[in-house]
Amino acid sequence: MDAQVSAGARAPAAEEAAIDASEFRSFAGHFATGVAVVTARGAAGDLSGVTINAVTSLSLDPPLYLVCLDNSSNTLGLLRETRAFALHFLARDQAAISRLFASKRPDKFSGIIYAIGETGSPIIDGVLAAAECVVTELTAMGDHTIVIGEVRSTRVNGGEPLLYHRGAYAVLDSAPD
Ligand SMILES: Cc1cc2nc3c(=O)[nH]c(=O)nc-3n(C[C@H](O)[C@H](O)[C@H](O)COP(=O)(O)O)c2cc1C
Repeated sequence: MDAQVSAGARAPAAEEAAIDASEFRSFAGHFATGVAVVTARGAAGDLSGVTINAVTSLSLDPPLYLVCLDNSSNTLGLLRETRAFALHFLARDQAAISRLFASKRPDKFSGIIYAIGETGSPIIDGVLAAAECVVTELTAMGDHTIVIGEVRSTRVNGGEPLLYHRGAYAVLDSAPD
């Protein structure tokens, strides 16, 4: 018999132990990404935001975006209440904003210029682009939750992106062709 895997058979790799967290982080860190911030407003009007890079466009029709949030995220808690969020892509001079929203500070919006959008989520000023989304699905997966949002509106300001690679911020050193 050749090397085909028959129905129901498990590949040998599936029997092996899972990798540890540092190996996972090292692997994942080699994928260069932009930096995004998800913001949400809770039912009581409280605001929160979280820096993320687990984000991807999911569908054009309907227009869907997917983000992955740690189950312990305060922002995830607020987003669950109102089922809406805003997604921002940060500009090259916004590493400080990324650090702020990567913290657990309760007052993350105190020094931030923002406006409340039509879906109720806070929209941060000066970003490359922002989208308002309504939550269509929340799926717990491991220690994170997959959040799928339908994009209701976008604002595109343009500019150069903030990048993240191997645990450090970076910027483009040349404009694309
Ligand atoms: C570059 C970068 C990317 C991150 N990506 C994610 C992510 O995709 N999902 C996530 O839940 N946390 C991510 N984090 C960690 C959160 O920003 C951090 O846990 C934050 O304190 C959560 O805030 P909150 O609990 O107020 O929502 C990332 C942090 C950094 C600096």
